[in-house]
Amino acid sequence: MGLETLHKHGWTCFAQDAKIAKWVAHVQPHAADIALNPAHIAAWLRYGGTWFAGVNILPNDLCGRLGTGPALAGKAVNFLTELHGPLALDQAQISVIYPGYPAHDGSESEAAHRYRHIRCAAHVDGLRPEGPDRRRYIQEPHQFVLGIPLVATSEQASPMVVWQGSHHIIRAAFKSVLDTVPGADWPRIDLTEVYHQARKKCFETCTRVTVLAEPGECYVLHRLALHGIAPWGEGAVAPTAGRMVAYFRPQNDCNLHDWLNGTY
Ligand SMILES: [Fe+2]
Repeated sequence: MGLETLHKHGWTCFAQDAKIAKWVAHVQPHAADIALNPAHIAAWLRYGGTWFAGVNILPNDLCGRLGTGPALAGKAVNFLTELHGPLALDQAQISVIYPGYPAHDGSESEAAHRYRHIRCAAHVDGLRPEGPDRRRYIQEPHQFVLGIPLVATSEQASPMVVWQGSHHIIRAAFKSVLDTVPGADWPRIDLTEVYHQARKKCFETCTRVTVLAEPGECYVLHRLALHGIAPWGEGAVAPTAGRMVAYFRPQNDCNLHDWLNGTY
């Protein structure tokens, strides 16, 4: 646990914390309402109704406070504050996964669907494929990913998976290209090839681990870690509201040098 684990493995988990539990107790009913709102469903329901993506949909403030509820607090927040300064959170993603994820509804190619199934749609955040050729550029230099489970589920209910240590490989690969380029030009550098090669190396050399956490627990993912969401497994146990997680991915000042190098 802690910085050493985050640095070494690319993720770390925080044990049950009353302050996180209190935040979850306030937010969960609102998150459930959001995922049932027809307008939000129209915008965010994907893959045959098996994933509500809900990106930046929770109207929380910079401290994670929703309405009159508590600000986000606890050991994980202290940990992140020490690394990055006072909380300056984005609006949380409310990600809800339902039985059958990922159903193939024709919205993505057979190859992309297969990748979603076999490789859990593994990706590094912030480099979304762009255009018909799916080219990758730095778009969203997050500081970290903070995952906060809002419901209890079994491990078959589409957990996050991480390729342990992958952030070292991804970082080295991006540095091999970007270290010789002025920072101002980085967003224009096509990282597609180097990203694909690094991702392949991660699959070949890193252990894939499942991140399991209950409400009151939470986890921090390194900004360069390769991760994805496992398909819904047989015998998965989850509430009818689905497997629901709030993710914070603040960009703050979009400092690309920190994103690539940082202190960890
Ligand atoms: Fe992600």
